[in-house]
Amino acid sequence: MQHAESRKYGIGDASYQAAGGETGIRKLVDEFFDRMGSDARFRQIYDMHPADKDLSRDKLARFLCGWLGGPKLYSEKYGGISIPRAHEHLAVASAERDQWLSCMGETVANQPFADDFKIYLMQQLFVPAEAVRRRVELLRQSRDAT
Ligand code: HEM
Repeated sequence: MQHAESRKYGIGDASYQAAGGETGIRKLVDEFFDRMGSDARFRQIYDMHPADKDLSRDKLARFLCGWLGGPKLYSEKYGGISIPRAHEHLAVASAERDQWLSCMGETVANQPFADDFKIYLMQQLFVPAEAVRRRVELLRQSRDAT
């Protein structure tokens, strides 16, 4: 049943609404970065970010609005983006991917979202997180081969 229920989140802006729209997504992202900066388990990925964390917060929040089916706020302000390409300069292996997903998972768990949406959201976020890891690995392999 849960599977049939959660399928609705992929339609139109259902996910954006389930996350509380821009206000809910900005709150999620703020708490995500607060957690990342205050918990030693996430120190490594926190330190990978540029000093201007307000910019990182704005970028991720705007990206997630569009990615969840809401307004394309990232491209409005920053232009086009490919998530794997935007992370090519970073050292993201499984450990860093899992840090990001754990930090996000713990933050999502604290949000006033429906339980089936929390599960759906984390399943969906695994896809770009893994795509980042894979892109970084492929680049490393092609560099090692030359
Ligand atoms: C796999 C684990 C991930 C790690 C370790 C990670 C880490 C980072 C870091 C360190 C930056 C700042 C890069 C810089 O400015 O130099 C960044 C930027 C960003 N990340 Fe991630 N990230 C991960 C996954 C994701 C995922 C899954 C998403 C989206 C669902 C995402 C969305 C973004 C966005 C939108 C930016 C801003 C890109 C830009 O405008 O240049 N990240 N990430």
